[in-house]
Amino acid sequence: MRATITSIAHWVPEDVYPNSFFEKYLDTSHEWIFTRTGISERRFLKEGGTSDMIVPAAKECMAKRGVKPEEIDCVIVATVTPDHFFPSTAAIVQRKLGLKNAWGYDISAACSSFLFSLTTAVKLVESGACKKVLLCGADKMSSIMDFQDRATAVLFGDGAGCALIEASNDESMGFIDSILHIDGEGEPYLHMKAGGSVKPASEETVRNREHYIFQDGQNVFKAAVKGMADVSLEMMEKHNLTADDIAWLVPHQANLRIISATSDRMRLDPSKVMINIDKYGNTTAATIPICLSEWHKAGKLHKGDKLILSSFGAGYTWGAIYFVWNMND
Ligand code: ACO
Repeated sequence: MRATITSIAHWVPEDVYPNSFFEKYLDTSHEWIFTRTGISERRFLKEGGTSDMIVPAAKECMAKRGVKPEEIDCVIVATVTPDHFFPSTAAIVQRKLGLKNAWGYDISAACSSFLFSLTTAVKLVESGACKKVLLCGADKMSSIMDFQDRATAVLFGDGAGCALIEASNDESMGFIDSILHIDGEGEPYLHMKAGGSVKPASEETVRNREHYIFQDGQNVFKAAVKGMADVSLEMMEKHNLTADDIAWLVPHQANLRIISATSDRMRLDPSKVMINIDKYGNTTAATIPICLSEWHKAGKLHKGDKLILSSFGAGYTWGAIYFVWNMND
């Protein structure tokens, strides 16, 4: 049995923060941010947590497919910004949506969370363990951003995307394959210093601003350019795909230069690359489902389109998924 995405939706906060917002109090400029990253603006959630962005996206996702909350048998939340350490955000989403017949859990793989959790959800459906998995990729990055650190504050945004994973009605379409990687040698370059079990929160950790994203941008950049391109090419080679075969590259949106380096190495025409980093910044687990949802809504994704989903993030974690889209326009 093959599994597929049967419905998709996204939700982003209304409040837009253009690059000029940061120019007011950080030593930065629209010019620097836009040329180095491709970001023009991002959305931040003022009130509430990650689950509050998932709920409207999930409701739209289920409504589009005519699925009732009690039909969902598993809910997975991909996030690095859970509402709380525990219970899982999946449990909170289960309660808020009334998914009374579901079990579920959170997955943490930073910017690769959506690819890791899509693979997991697909395997649950393919094995027969679940029929309808509600897969949510969401992050409130503004809750872990140091607004005094120009090197990271300008990069991220908040948002959510949800997909329904069910058995495919066509064995030739849906999730075909994934190649996923994890390498803990990446920890020094991208992490949060305190708040976990190694260094619990204290007055000192708060004073030292250790509860925010720490990133050595250049190291992550180099690893991301290589990781995303290598794994995307490996997937193409494994399935004998040429650039002409691929309808869309759906890349994680961390930096336009990383995306361009990946698509260049794949020899893809830039018109075949989903890009919305200019509007949302890096929404971590939400970037890929937001792309898919926006492109589907705009009628730019067609049944039979061959997609390569590709990501790189903290861990390090990275991977690629080969997916044949089989929803109608
Ligand atoms: N405005 C102005 N200047 C800045 C800013 C800013 N916002 N931020 C940094 N600078 C300065 C630096 O201080 C440095 O100045 P210096 O030369 O005087 O020391 C200069 O700009 C260049 O800094 P770099 O860090 O070399 O800039 P770079 O071109 O590498 O861009 C960036 C930085 C955008 C962070 C890039 O390295 C990047 O995108 N890295 C990868 C991000 C990524 O993919 N993360 C993974 C996913 S995130 C996750 O998993 C949660």
